[in-house]
Amino acid sequence: MEPNDITFRTRKWVKPEDLNANGTLFGGSLLRWIDEEAAIYAIVQLGNQRAVTKYMSEINFVSSAEQGDIIEMGLTATHFGRTSLTMRAQVRNMITRDLILSIDKIVFVNLDKDGVPAPHGFTEITYDRDRIPTTVLPRIREREA
Ligand SMILES: CC(C)(COP(=O)(O)OP(=O)(O)OC[C@H]1O[C@@H](n2cnc3c(N)ncnc32)[C@H](O)[C@@H]1OP(=O)(O)O)[C@@H](O)C(=O)NCCC(=O)NCCS
Repeated sequence: MEPNDITFRTRKWVKPEDLNANGTLFGGSLLRWIDEEAAIYAIVQLGNQRAVTKYMSEINFVSSAEQGDIIEMGLTATHFGRTSLTMRAQVRNMITRDLILSIDKIVFVNLDKDGVPAPHGFTEITYDRDRIPTTVLPRIREREA
């Protein structure tokens, strides 16, 4: 597995409500976006909507963004454990081209229906949609009926 092979999937436009008192991007907004991005990535990789954030390593905000900037977030899986998935994240400013932050380890844990860690059975990254949970399908069918 190549940990540098990050795919930048999501872009955000920095708006007034995302700013801190310094007039730059509020760290809490960025962390919320990263956690959501990581949750979606984990759900797709583990095929389970019950994947929860367990651990984030050091976060060093090396640069920021201003209102009107566009940032992009990227993640890649670096380790498939028995019940966990470890990812690496990067966020960069598309306007200034500066790195905003990188996080070496974000760990998500795969849970069963009782909220207990459960083996996910995967060892490699999927680049397809083959693991997207299908449990929502009956609800979609109900809506369409
Ligand atoms: C997720 C949770 C069920 C895990 O419970 P736990 O008792 O730590 O479970 P385990 O000891 O079986 O560990 C589960 C996995 O997490 C990994 N893990 C546990 N603590 C870790 C840590 N500090 N850092 C990295 N990985 C860790 C373990 O290595 C294991 O992975 P593996 O099976 O791939 O080897 C529990 O900690 C929890 O509910 N936490 C709150 C999660 C949450 O709600 N997050 C949202 C933010 S509030």
